[in-house]
Formats: sequence, structure tokens, C-alpha cells
Amino acid sequence: MNINLVKKEALDEIDKAKNLKDIEQIFKKYLSKKGKITLILRTLKNLPENKKALMGKKANELKNLLKKVLEEKNIQFSTKGQKDGLVKKWIDVTAPGIKTPQGHLHPITQVKQQIEEIFQSMGFSISEGPEIETEYYNFDALNVPKDHPARDMWDTFWIKEIKSSPQRSKLLLRTHTSPVQARYMETHNPPLRVIVPGRCFRYEATDASHDVQFHQIEGLMVDKNISLANLKGLLEHFMKRLYGESVVTRWQPSYFPFVEPGLELLMRCEVCKGKGCSTCGNGWIEVIPCGMVHPNVFKAVGYNPKNWQGFAFGMGLDRLTMMKYKINDIRLLYSGDLRFLNQF
Ligand code: DAH
Repeated sequence: MNINLVKKEALDEIDKAKNLKDIEQIFKKYLSKKGKITLILRTLKNLPENKKALMGKKANELKNLLKKVLEEKNIQFSTKGQKDGLVKKWIDVTAPGIKTPQGHLHPITQVKQQIEEIFQSMGFSISEGPEIETEYYNFDALNVPKDHPARDMWDTFWIKEIKSSPQRSKLLLRTHTSPVQARYMETHNPPLRVIVPGRCFRYEATDASHDVQFHQIEGLMVDKNISLANLKGLLEHFMKRLYGESVVTRWQPSYFPFVEPGLELLMRCEVCKGKGCSTCGNGWIEVIPCGMVHPNVFKAVGYNPKNWQGFAFGMGLDRLTMMKYKINDIRLLYSGDLRFLNQF
């Protein structure tokens, strides 16, 4: 094998090498165990003595030369690779950052907090009660006798009784926040003013204005010489604080076993401005059922109805929220759909 030819060939290839891989190939071809130069060195022993020394010297020189050149190329390509990598990974620290999405309170919670603030500013405190309630507090203590047709006003989710520990009173998912009236009066002496926000449940078909779960805010005020005029004045004032002076409301008589007389505050539908739509039907929405506390409710909690009067109300928080933001379907409020919720 002609050493000069091998040298030329190897240097040519190194010159044309484009990357680390090429360099590796060339190293293999000439300098590995089976490489050309290794073979030349191995065949030296067959040469006559006078040629052996010269060829040996030349071959070793070529070996060292190639090693050096390949090493240089190796360094050249690997630092270039690093530099290329750095260019790709370069970070512009002056570029504006990506904003972390920030959550916010659910529209029902927002309106609930506004309502709480309004009543707190009028001296009402806030209380809560259990969502799993007894039949006694949900109905009996509120003057809704067993087997009375009035009980059909509330479609109830009953909770299965555990045979091993029978309850004195059957359990249910509360159908309204009114039971907390009785619970609160049992543990507090009059005079009192309280509101009770909470979730309620009814076993009924869902549509744009009914869902199986919804929210109410119960209110109760007990004092001496409380009249219907106080109730009407308070709730009309409340509506103006929540919706602004331009809110349009009206009253109609109603019936609830735990109040006498019973009435209802209606507001003009904000979605259709009173024209009539799928949310309201005839342009009006019943938002606050209320009335003067029935003497039987006072008796059930141990108050003397001759000494105390009071009024109670149970507003539909979902409807008030829908009117506030002109939402036309209650089910949207419980959909958990961020496209809807992000608008508030
Ligand atoms: N609890 C009633 C319901 O959900 C609403 C109600 C009516 C509450 C009159 C009251 C009231 O406090 O006085 O249907």
C-alpha cells in the first residue's frame, strides 16, 4: 500500500467532512484496529530490513498526523454544535411573560357576597344550617303538618334510613333554607335579625328556570312591633341597593304555611325588560317569597307569639344572579363551563 496515496486520500476525506459523524467514519477507516494505517503497521514485519525502518517511520508519522487533524476537526465540530444549540435555546429575557390564568369567584358567590354586605349594613348577622336536614325542621317546625297537602309544594329527596340506627325524624336534602329559621330561634333569644345563605335541593324536572339544586338566602327578623310595612320597606330598599334605583318591582299575595299573611316580591325581567321571554314567561320573575312569621312557628321554638312579631323571607339567589347578569338559563350556572364562567 502506498503511504503517500493513503495520506492524500485521508486528508481529502477529512477536508470534506461535514460533521462529527463523518470524522468518526474517517477515524474508523484509517485508525481503528482494522483501519488502513493499522494494517500497514502490521505488515511492516514482512518487509526487508532496509525498507522496514523507513516505512515504519512514515506510517507512524501519518498515524500521528491523522490523529491530530481528526482531533482538531472533532473539537471544531463539537463546539459548533454547542453554539448552534445555544442559538436555538436562546431566551429573550426582555420579552413579556405568559400570564398565568387567574380564577375568580362564581357569579352566584359574587352576588351572594353583595347581598350579605347589604344586609350586614342593616344589622343582620349571617348563619348557616345543614344541607341534610330532618323532616322535623324542614316541615314540622314550620307549620307544615304531616299529610297536609301543603307538603306537596316541595318535591323532596328523601334519604334512605339505615335500619340499624333509625332516626327519630326522617332525613332529607333540605328543600329550602327556612328550617334554619327554627334552628336559629331555638338557640337565640329575640330580638334578632339574621340571614342564611345556603344550597337547597328539589326532586323535580329541570328547565331554564328550575334545577335540582339551587341557592336561597333566608331572612328572619323578630322584634316587638314589627309590621308588614317594615318587611315591604326593607325588601324594596334591598332591591334598589342590589339592582340600582331603576329596578321595577311589584307585590302579589301568596301562601306559605309558615307565614301569615304570605306575599311575594316580583321584579320585572331584566333579560326581556318585561316583554316576556323563555326565562320569565310573562315579563315578571318571582324573586322574594316572604310574610309575617306564623304564630305556630314561634310556638314550635318556644317564643310567645303574643310578645314577639317578625317577618321572614326566602329569596332565590340563582334567579337574583340571573337577573343581575341577564343569564337566561339557570342550568348554565351549574354547568362548570369556563366559556360561560369567564364572562363574570
Ligand atoms: N321557603 C320557601 C320556599 O322555598 C320560601 C319562603 C316563603 C321563605 C316565605 C320564607 C317565607 O321565609 O316567609 O318555597
